Amino acid sequence: MDDPSPFRLAIGFTRAQSRRMVPHPPLTRHYSSTEGKPAFVNGLFDAAATHYDAVVDWGFLRSGSPYRRWTLRQNGLKPGDRLLDVACGTGLVAAEAAKILGGAKTITCLDPSEGMLSVARTKLDATFVVGRAEKMPFADHAFDFLTMGYALRHVTSLEETFREYRRVLRPGGKLLILEVTKPSGPVGGFLFKLYFRRIYPFLTQLFTRSRAARDMMEYYWETMDACVPPESVLAALRAAGLAQVGRAKLLGLFSEYVATNPGD
Ligand SMILES: C[S@@+](CC[C@H](N)C(=O)[O-])C[C@H]1O[C@@H](n2cnc3c(N)ncnc32)[C@H](O)[C@@H]1O
Repeated sequence: MDDPSPFRLAIGFTRAQSRRMVPHPPLTRHYSSTEGKPAFVNGLFDAAATHYDAVVDWGFLRSGSPYRRWTLRQNGLKPGDRLLDVACGTGLVAAEAAKILGGAKTITCLDPSEGMLSVARTKLDATFVVGRAEKMPFADHAFDFLTMGYALRHVTSLEETFREYRRVLRPGGKLLILEVTKPSGPVGGFLFKLYFRRIYPFLTQLFTRSRAARDMMEYYWETMDACVPPESVLAALRAAGLAQVGRAKLLGLFSEYVATNPGD
C-alpha cells in the first residue's frame, strides 16, 4: 500500500501501520518485518501447545471456559448454526460452542499451528483445517457464525482478515472476536503491565518448567502492548463492508467485537 490516507492516520494507525492495516507493527526483537511474523508465531504456538490450556486456565483464574460459553450464548449462537472458529488453537472456544450446539458436527476449526490443532483434535469431533485467517479455504457464505478467540493480534492484515470473514459468512451471519485489551487509565494500565509483563510469564515458567510456554506468554504481553486501539479494529471491520459493527467492554479488560455480513 502506498502513502497512508489521512483517514487511516485519523483513526489511530501510525504511518508505518497504515501502509497495511496491521494489528501491531513488526516486533523486531523477534522478526524484522510483518512477512516474517507467521513463521515466528507458528513456531511459538507449536512449541508451547501442550501447556496452553493449563496456562490460560489458571492465568485467568479459571474464568476462561465459562466466559467463552456465556459470551457465545449472549451473542446469539444457537443449535443448528454452522460455526467457523478461526484460530481455534487447542479448541477452547469450539469446546464451549459444542455445549450450546449440542455437539461439534457443525463446527469447523481453523488454525495454522499443527501443534495446537493436535491438542484440539483430542477433544472435539469437529472438522479441523490447517489455514490462516487472511486466506481461508472455504466457499463463500458457508457459515452462520464465526468466532475468533484471542488471536486477532496474530494476523498480518486486519483488512484481508475481515474481508475473508465477510466472504465466508452468509448474509446476516454474525462474527464475534474476543480479545484482551490494555486498559487506558494509569492505574489499570500499571496493574495490567505488572501482571502480563512480569508476573504471568514468571509463574508460567515456574509451573510448567517450560521456556517455550514462558516465551508464549511474554509474546502475549508484547502484542497486547503494541496493539492498535479498539477504534482502529472497529474502523477496519467497517472498511471491510461489515455491518452492525460494535464493541462491548468487560471489566475494562475484555473486548468483544461483533459485526454482521450485510450481504451484497
Ligand atoms: C492465543 S491462541 C487462541 C486459541 C483459542 N482461540 C482460545 O480462545 O484460547 C492463538 C491462536 O491463533 C493462531 N494463529 C496465529 N496466527 C494465525 C492466523 N494468521 N490465522 C489464524 N490463526 C492464527 C495460533 O496458532 C494460536 O492457535
